[in-house]
Amino acid sequence: MKEPLSRAFSAQINKEYFSAFFYLVMSDYLDAIGFKGAASWTYVQYQEELAHAQNLVHYLHARNENVKYMTIADPSGEWNGIKDVFLSILKHEESVTESISELATLAMQSGDHAAYTFLHWYIAEQVEEEGNVQDVIDKLQIAEDNQNALLTIDNLLGARVYVEPIVPGVGTSI
Ligand SMILES: [Fe+2]
Ligand SMILES: [Fe+2]
Repeated sequence: MKEPLSRAFSAQINKEYFSAFFYLVMSDYLDAIGFKGAASWTYVQYQEELAHAQNLVHYLHARNENVKYMTIADPSGEWNGIKDVFLSILKHEESVTESISELATLAMQSGDHAAYTFLHWYIAEQVEEEGNVQDVIDKLQIAEDNQNALLTIDNLLGARVYVEPIVPGVGTSI
């Protein structure tokens, strides 16, 4: 793998670990304001983000590349209620989508077909991530300040269970 591409993969690993901790902080906040279901949903997403990072690590290992681990940015934030959290998630996922796209463009420009093909899973995953979050935002918008509706949404979010993502090209993840 060409050095700039390898470095860009490491930078993406750092971003996925940041994402994980960002979701963890939001999970704590949601738990503190009483939305246990949404707290659980964001905790599941925290686990998923760890898997995103780990599968990129596995991929670099498979390509015999060294991972450059970097300092993870401070994930703390301030929110004003549950809808604010999900709006913040959407903004974050949009930036991750952009970052994955840039990585795929670099892989393509480097003539690294293997890396480019591998990244297709991540590109498709981002469509799912943004779609899921938009769906929650839509529901929260309909609910507005209706406490019953908000509790129903919270219960719905609480039903999400963690499913280990299977990323083609890296075997089974840890
Ligand atoms: Fe991710
Ligand atoms: Fe996902």
